[in-house]
Amino acid sequence: MKDNFDFLPILGTDYIEFYVGNSKQAAYFYQTAFGFQPLAYAGLETGLMDRSSYVLQQGKIRLVFTSALQGENEISRHAMEHGDGVKVIALWVDDATKSWVETTKRGAESYMAPTATNDEFGEVITSGIRIYGETVHLFIERKNYNGAFLPGFKAWESDYITQPTGLKYVDHMVGNVGWGEMNKWVDFYANVMGFNQLVSFDDKDISTEYTALMSKVMTNGNDRIKFPINEPAAGKKKSQVEEYLDFYGTSGVQHIAMETDNIIKTVGELRNRGIEFLEVPDQYYDIVEERVGSIDEKIDNLKKFGILVDRDDEGYLLQIFTKPLVDRPTLFFEIIQRKGAKSFGKGNFKALFEAIELEQSKRGTL
Ligand code: FE2
Repeated sequence: MKDNFDFLPILGTDYIEFYVGNSKQAAYFYQTAFGFQPLAYAGLETGLMDRSSYVLQQGKIRLVFTSALQGENEISRHAMEHGDGVKVIALWVDDATKSWVETTKRGAESYMAPTATNDEFGEVITSGIRIYGETVHLFIERKNYNGAFLPGFKAWESDYITQPTGLKYVDHMVGNVGWGEMNKWVDFYANVMGFNQLVSFDDKDISTEYTALMSKVMTNGNDRIKFPINEPAAGKKKSQVEEYLDFYGTSGVQHIAMETDNIIKTVGELRNRGIEFLEVPDQYYDIVEERVGSIDEKIDNLKKFGILVDRDDEGYLLQIFTKPLVDRPTLFFEIIQRKGAKSFGKGNFKALFEAIELEQSKRGTL
């Protein structure tokens, strides 16, 4: 049910921060392979002794890669326990203090009380709350700031510029949570953050002969933020969510879906740069036109790149999933192009999960 009063207005995703083993090399990978452009840097040269952070941007998507510089600290421990993974989903707000007050009074656990930071470019107010696993939301208020990224960062000037691959903005970010915990986090997003439930999939929707999961999609007042929450469901074999939990060690972000307005071009470019995607059986394309009707793209082009299609009442969408982008079978990206459809590719779940099972069986984790 839509509440007329949005107590947590969110302008968009501000950035996504990954804690990684080697931020310099991670940044180079996302720069070179995905075409993100250098934006800002913090580390020894900016007076930090314990960490380095590289910030990259493409379209409206900002990614931050942070690693520890010495010994044991929060970042090195996180990287050791979980492997490279998402620590912060930062949300761009008009009022970070109010965002923190409204969410903590509704039961959110504080991660950071509202804090002002300054440099010659102005002031940013940041606050934060904890969500599933060790993941957090930061609220970023930057209306009085015009620096490259945040106070403490310097603009990252690089002579090495890669071509963008057409990624525009974050469409949705999926969290994997433990057995029986989906509804707890759905309630959290509803009650603590004022989100609405967009759609729900049970294990009958998302299952193959062997594995199953359940999912509910939560969205904020202006629909700019969409967070599907997955939990494993019982099946004959181990589901992808269970595999994720085994390797990540706790709940966390499973995938980030990024919008492009030309998926064939984007995926062709990413494949040229060595990005690997889940393989779709050729038979998928034999019945695709029957299933989704006529579309603008040539089926042969979709088949060539392994792009999936699905239709709902409002239009259709094209989507594809990378193989894991880190050592562990945890984090991956989705590339999505929406042509009217606002759904999440329910018609592709079976084909997709069979493709994931094939990868799991190669890893011996099915
Ligand atoms: Fe997705």
